[in-house]
Amino acid sequence: MSFDLVLFGGTGDLAWRKLMPALFQSFRHGTLPEGGRIIGVGRDNLSHDQYRELIKSRFDSVEGAKRPNAEEFARFAALLEFQRMDLSMPGDYATLAATLTERNADSVVMYVATAPGLFTTVCEQLAAAGLNTDKTRIVLEKPLGHDLASNRAINETVRRCFKENQVFRIDHYLGKPSVQNLFALRFGNALFEPLWKREHIANIQITIAEDLGVEKRGAFYENTGALRDMVQNHALQLLCAIGMEPPINSHADAIRDEKLKVLRSLKPWTAETLSQHVIRGQYSAGKSGSSKVPGYREELGVSPDSQTETFVALRTEIANWRWAGVPFYIRTGKRLAGRDAHIVVNFHQTPHPIFNAPVGAANRLVINLQPKDGLELHLLAQAQGNRSRSASQSLAPVQLDLDFDKRFGSERVGAYERLLLDVLDGRLNLFVRSDEQEEAWRWVEPIIEHWKNDAAGPRPYVAGTWGPSASSAMIARDGYCWSEES
Ligand code: BG6
Repeated sequence: MSFDLVLFGGTGDLAWRKLMPALFQSFRHGTLPEGGRIIGVGRDNLSHDQYRELIKSRFDSVEGAKRPNAEEFARFAALLEFQRMDLSMPGDYATLAATLTERNADSVVMYVATAPGLFTTVCEQLAAAGLNTDKTRIVLEKPLGHDLASNRAINETVRRCFKENQVFRIDHYLGKPSVQNLFALRFGNALFEPLWKREHIANIQITIAEDLGVEKRGAFYENTGALRDMVQNHALQLLCAIGMEPPINSHADAIRDEKLKVLRSLKPWTAETLSQHVIRGQYSAGKSGSSKVPGYREELGVSPDSQTETFVALRTEIANWRWAGVPFYIRTGKRLAGRDAHIVVNFHQTPHPIFNAPVGAANRLVINLQPKDGLELHLLAQAQGNRSRSASQSLAPVQLDLDFDKRFGSERVGAYERLLLDVLDGRLNLFVRSDEQEEAWRWVEPIIEHWKNDAAGPRPYVAGTWGPSASSAMIARDGYCWSEES
């Protein structure tokens, strides 16, 4: 099956960091369908060869086994072409149409990795140039909008130009092997499902911590912040995967229907929960490992009195029969103590203690998402090797550990590689439907509004820590603590 993949933003950051490496890995492993062409689109006046050289320079900085050798790169480069386009000029789409018609590939993927402000223009112009036929698929990167109204406006334009089954809205967290494992854990095994409910679960904690700061994306991040960048999409998708009902099958809409129901069941915000259950923070100068790092306000492209949050912790509930009353805590931030994404499912403790056992150390399932993925089941066992008389009544914390690297090897299909292959195959399971996205915006919008009127601004936290202390205080009010504090 031949394909043309048109990459709008072909010289941009995402193409450079994620998409080209993913396409190359797929090419190298023989999973990229044969007969492909990748057309990078940008404003520069580059020849095909100059574009190939530009992409090659990206791979020159890659170290280790992921770096292509010269012969491999030459074969990959033969798929690459470049087309100069001004995305507001209809004539440039006509030229693109001529390039695509000439080859008449079986499928055409339009990957829109541009600034979000250009999404609607690109969709409208593609449709006007007749580039929205049934063999076309369009891929839209996040963030899709800035709030509910802008998200709806984009989705309305997209709907006018394409059918929903042609639209692939990317949330790259859904492409991570560890997130697919989460679906496998819940719906491929019968063991946990009977326990997966309010009667047995005390609380759930979702943490996506990054040790990096905003790097060179200060100007973008200033208008985005952690709530829009991570919570509205990645964290809520994880919450859906934990909270959803089993879908009736593994088809895209069956899965997306169930995720949508979770988003619709999130407890609406009140003035009280907005002030008590949402904490925002911003990093100040501190450390990353052993190196000193600047505060957010000193980063390139960031205003010295910026009010943008680089950290969010919040508490919510899914108001349905399965979950009523169970707190779901979400926490994400930049420049935290490490790169660590995990979900903790804290089951209830035994109703009546008959042993001498540490409190809170067990009855816990930890789903590790990154940097390594795996499962830890924390239990209590009879303490061994202690000859004192009282030891026969003492329990010690132990853990059953499943490390997916050890089990399956560390060579995994990366998130973008997986998602790009799914687009080429027309598989929508790991992509977000417009109604899910709108519902997620509807839920975060009261937080955005609340912050607009909250003069206190984000709470400072020192780079290299776990965020402002108010985040621990919030969860402590329920009698719990974050996983690293237990
Ligand atoms: C992106 C955000 O969606 O996800 C970035 O825009 C963030 O700010 C990144 O750093 C995190 O992704 P990952 O895969 O490194 O956890």
